[in-house]
Amino acid sequence: MCGIAGYVGKNKANEFLLNALKKLEYRGYDSAGMTVLNEDGSLSCVRSVGKINELEEKMKKEKEMTGFVGIAHTRWATHGCPSEKNTHPHHDCKKNIFIVHNGIIENYKSLKKSLEKSGHQMESETDTEILAHLIESHFDGNLQQAVFDCLRHVDGAYAIAVVSKSDPGKIIVAKKGSPLVIGIGDGEYFVASDASALVGYTDRVIYLDDNEMGVIEKDKYKISSTTNNNQIHKEHCKIDLDVSEIQKGGHDYFLLKEIFEGPEVVQNSIRGRIISEKGLVKLGGLEVLDQKRLRDINRIIIIACGTANYAGMIGEYMLEEYAGIPVEVEIGSEFRYRKPVIDSKTAILAISQSGETADTIASLQEAKRKGALSLGIVNTVGSTIARETEAGIYNHAGPEISVASTKALMSQIVVLALLTVYLGRTREMSMITGKRITDELKKLPKLMEQVLDTKEDIKKLAKKYSKYNNFLYLGRKYNYPVANEGALKLKEVAYKIHAEGYAGGEMKHGPIAMIDEDFPCFFIASTDSVYDKMWSNMEEVKARKGKIIAVATEGNEDIKEIADDVIYIPKTLEMLTPILTAIPLHLFAAYMGIEFGFDIDKPRNLAKSVTVE
Ligand code: M6R
Repeated sequence: MCGIAGYVGKNKANEFLLNALKKLEYRGYDSAGMTVLNEDGSLSCVRSVGKINELEEKMKKEKEMTGFVGIAHTRWATHGCPSEKNTHPHHDCKKNIFIVHNGIIENYKSLKKSLEKSGHQMESETDTEILAHLIESHFDGNLQQAVFDCLRHVDGAYAIAVVSKSDPGKIIVAKKGSPLVIGIGDGEYFVASDASALVGYTDRVIYLDDNEMGVIEKDKYKISSTTNNNQIHKEHCKIDLDVSEIQKGGHDYFLLKEIFEGPEVVQNSIRGRIISEKGLVKLGGLEVLDQKRLRDINRIIIIACGTANYAGMIGEYMLEEYAGIPVEVEIGSEFRYRKPVIDSKTAILAISQSGETADTIASLQEAKRKGALSLGIVNTVGSTIARETEAGIYNHAGPEISVASTKALMSQIVVLALLTVYLGRTREMSMITGKRITDELKKLPKLMEQVLDTKEDIKKLAKKYSKYNNFLYLGRKYNYPVANEGALKLKEVAYKIHAEGYAGGEMKHGPIAMIDEDFPCFFIASTDSVYDKMWSNMEEVKARKGKIIAVATEGNEDIKEIADDVIYIPKTLEMLTPILTAIPLHLFAAYMGIEFGFDIDKPRNLAKSVTVE
């Protein structure tokens, strides 16, 4: 995700800013930029696509930055491709006000319209640039007041740092939803989106809370409320800075950090996309299409690989059950060599975290050649798949660093649910059903937290079962793809163990032959329309002395009679259970890998992005 840095004090701002950006690199980014208010009253702004050292090289070629006040940013594209004009800091019409921003401004489109009407000219595709112009429209020499006035019109999440040539010597910061920390030095203050950027500079900090803003000058600061402008007293905290620990959010591995980020990721994927009272979903990325063309689609082919393919299978069930559209799910490496039957009423939907998976890209191109409408669900803005598709939906899951995909899966399932409502509501889906699904989607982050709270129990399970060499994962309907996902994660992260995912009903057609007391089975047995069938499968395994670990819905005490171990998930709509049932399976694989002493972030033989056939 994006990173923010700011400096005001006795030293040259660019030195801290550059170091801070380097420390924020781990968050993932595609471009970086810096603005410094120079001593002579001028202002320098350098922005570049690519790595920080490219920014550094560019800075060397520009006029030297001599100022003591500045802001900087690493950007991970959300609105608009990685490009110099989309890189932060963004500025107003007069290049007087400069801003860096993390988060998403939900109402940026309507703000943009009204700003353009009153003569503001935007250069970028970002939501951030709107803020610079909105502040400009309120600015009469007092930057703090202008930021305060601007924020009253803004919906969404933000952490911002703003400077102005016309009100120099200070940085205005504000926060709602995205983190921001102020570091306290000796005659200097630092600003950062996470404390790891401050290592080596200070260990005294103030954490800004939501709806707070600050005015920071070289020898003083003031924090106030963005709702009523009242001053707020903040306690200083002393932090014990271990940079690698901070970068991993206090976890030992990125994989664990990303699993635990799930609730936030789901929140980001639904943010601004639900119109609750109408049971509708708003997907800006699909609005570019002629909506009649979308309504006329009578078949969807989902293409994806690995975990994204399992998300696609969950989407298949959702879209067929609730939107009434026939769906097929294909593995990219298979589809590209078939002779698929496609016409102009077929939509091809590519799902990919990286947007660079070679087999998915080749399949997409093949389907486009045959006249399909091309759509994408992609996490990486500006990636090949994002560019090759006619329209699409971004996940907003943030960069996924661990090779094993976990948080991207969560967001893919959520986006597929949103798409189901979007397409369903233009077909047979009632407002009541649309509302039921969207209301339930909004509850998910809290429910996910509950499942994540079982981590200690899952750690113990991993220890207990680490002596086994094989695992079978079984599920039905929405949780059949989850069974596949559980097995894939175990193979990937704890590769000493062999695991298979199977549809519960298929077990009797072969795999049951393997079951004995040395063969544990994971049953995804949430209380839903196929629960009784799963129970029969558990009986079959028990009869052959197989060990059973069940993922069940809370309140189901009966399952303890048959299962050796039970992990509970809270109740949700059947179509959304995969979001909850996948969590214990992800954690189990991660803890199992740790148990074996593996580097679970980078399992052997694997690459994060599979850009070759
Ligand atoms: O970037 P993509 O979503 O297109 O990647 C697809 C697969 O390579 C990916 O999901 C892979 O299976 C993961 N390592 C699974 O954890």
